[in-house]
Amino acid sequence: MRIAVANNKGGAGKTTAIAHLAEALAARGRRVLAVDLDPQANLSRRLGYGEADLAEMVTAAEVVAANQKGCAADALVGCRWAPADLAERIDLVPARYDLEARVAEAGQLGSHERLDVALTGVAEDYDVTLLDCPPSLGHLTQLGLAAADTVVLVLRPEYDHLQGAIRVRDFVAAYRRHLGRPDLAVSGVIVNEHDRRRGLHAWHTDSVADTFGDLVWSPPVPSRAVLAEAIDAAQPLRARGAPARPLVEIFSTLADQLEVRLDAAV
Ligand SMILES: Nc1ncnc2c1ncn2[C@@H]1O[C@H](COP(=O)(O)OP(=O)(O)O)[C@@H](O)[C@H]1O
Ligand SMILES: [Mg+2]
Repeated sequence: MRIAVANNKGGAGKTTAIAHLAEALAARGRRVLAVDLDPQANLSRRLGYGEADLAEMVTAAEVVAANQKGCAADALVGCRWAPADLAERIDLVPARYDLEARVAEAGQLGSHERLDVALTGVAEDYDVTLLDCPPSLGHLTQLGLAAADTVVLVLRPEYDHLQGAIRVRDFVAAYRRHLGRPDLAVSGVIVNEHDRRRGLHAWHTDSVADTFGDLVWSPPVPSRAVLAEAIDAAQPLRARGAPARPLVEIFSTLADQLEVRLDAAV
């Protein structure tokens, strides 16, 4: 199953959710493909590929430009995390800043299908493909949506994040037929960086529930220094020892909810 992870808002935790859902899924034996569709290449770095590495690599930018069936295979690389037993079940189609250049092709007829075409025959080798969309509704996100079976939104319990998530939901409903995915819909909402001491977060957590109902996955991911540290160091949570254990549990519970969709899709 291919899942586009999106919000029309930056800093929501989209890339974080992908990295650590991938970790949770790999830990239970699932094979995961992560596709970086953000020219910021944050997901690529978090799975082990820095700016200098990426300069030499085939990335989503070339894959989308090539527009050939299955050509995403040319860009596949393994996750570089230690321990290797997790990493060996996670592959990546990396991104580079010049993925931005693909936006100029948006006017070409059918260009939104190019990632879908590139992943054909490639994504099928994995249990889950997670597509990391940039915080826009533009061409790069449209490439991700047109290649996806379903959409998961990630947001902080704050006004602008909720609005960004609603825009994605409504965009998908309005344009899914044009994207060649007439059944595409939001099937999950992850609440991230929840701080229960903040009244604002408690209040907006209720508005997220009012807006998205039982699409909201639980529990929310709390705001934790150890998660920011794992992100910064490009490590799995399991490499951060005891302080990260509650978060390992939380991402495992979120992965359970993803697996429910997987099982339903079979
Ligand atoms: N639960 C969390 N606890 C602490 N810091 C977090 C958490 N989630 C995200 N962050 C911080 O927020 C930043 C943005 O997250 P990121 O996943 O890159 O967002 P997005 O991909 O939506 O732009 C991260 O670099 C990290 O520092
Ligand atoms: Mg991101």
